Amino acid sequence: MIRPLESAPVAPPRHYLMCRPTHFAVEYTINPWMNPDAGVDRRRAIRQWEALRDLYRSLGHRVSEIEPIEGLPDMVFAANGGLVVDGRVYGARFASAERTPEGPAYLDWFHNAGYTRIKEPKHVNEGEGDFITLDEVILAATGFRTEAAAHQEAERFLGRPVVTLQLVDPRFYHLDTALFAPSGDRVVYYPGAFSEGSRRVLRSLYPDAIPATEADAAVLGLNAVSDGHNVVLAAEAVDLADRLRDLGYAVHPVQMGELRKAGGGAKCCTLELRDPSVR
Ligand code: ARG
Repeated sequence: MIRPLESAPVAPPRHYLMCRPTHFAVEYTINPWMNPDAGVDRRRAIRQWEALRDLYRSLGHRVSEIEPIEGLPDMVFAANGGLVVDGRVYGARFASAERTPEGPAYLDWFHNAGYTRIKEPKHVNEGEGDFITLDEVILAATGFRTEAAAHQEAERFLGRPVVTLQLVDPRFYHLDTALFAPSGDRVVYYPGAFSEGSRRVLRSLYPDAIPATEADAAVLGLNAVSDGHNVVLAAEAVDLADRLRDLGYAVHPVQMGELRKAGGGAKCCTLELRDPSVR
């Protein structure tokens, strides 16, 4: 009898949408990370972003790019551009005037890319920044950006249960800065980012969740991307890297320091296109 070869688990390829930080800058303050006086090195931001994009490709994933628009310095944070589940696109509607034009820009990209099931949102929501799609539920946050009414709008449109969580710490203003799903059935989160009620919800849904330290959260370590096997993680989040390695994940540290000056990390730069039919 021929026994199958033992091989490392290979994650099925994912499809990501990214936006090159050609016009990246910190010119306004819409979260506590952003200090317009501190100055950013745009060339360094571009190098960090290219390394991230190339890493995804080297892991076998597909990366599509949306054209960056001058005057929209935060457009690099593609995660905020929408939420795609089962090929359905729930569009974004930004909370701040500075980022409002990004909503239609991302919707146009989806129309041009051939998506047909697209919902222009009535309610304010910042896409995957505040929605994390797991196997059984979509976790959604409110408190700083996305309105709770958008959670219901998304649930109706996507046909998946959406669970509302309350963010309370302004440093962790989007859900993807406070909670990360290394697999569809497992979460890691920084408890201090959530209200007491939401901590209880998370404990009952995910009793085996991995708690993250404040130090790892404070380097935006929870703003990570996983394909179920490979985890792309801020290089400074060393405790979390150890925990994930112990659990069998392949950890890929990335330098995101320049984009972090705007309050973003690897996940913020990455919108997952969960659509096997549009390729
Ligand atoms: N400066 C951007 C903002 O405050 C950063 C967005 C980060 N994106 C994210 N998915 N957390 O809107």
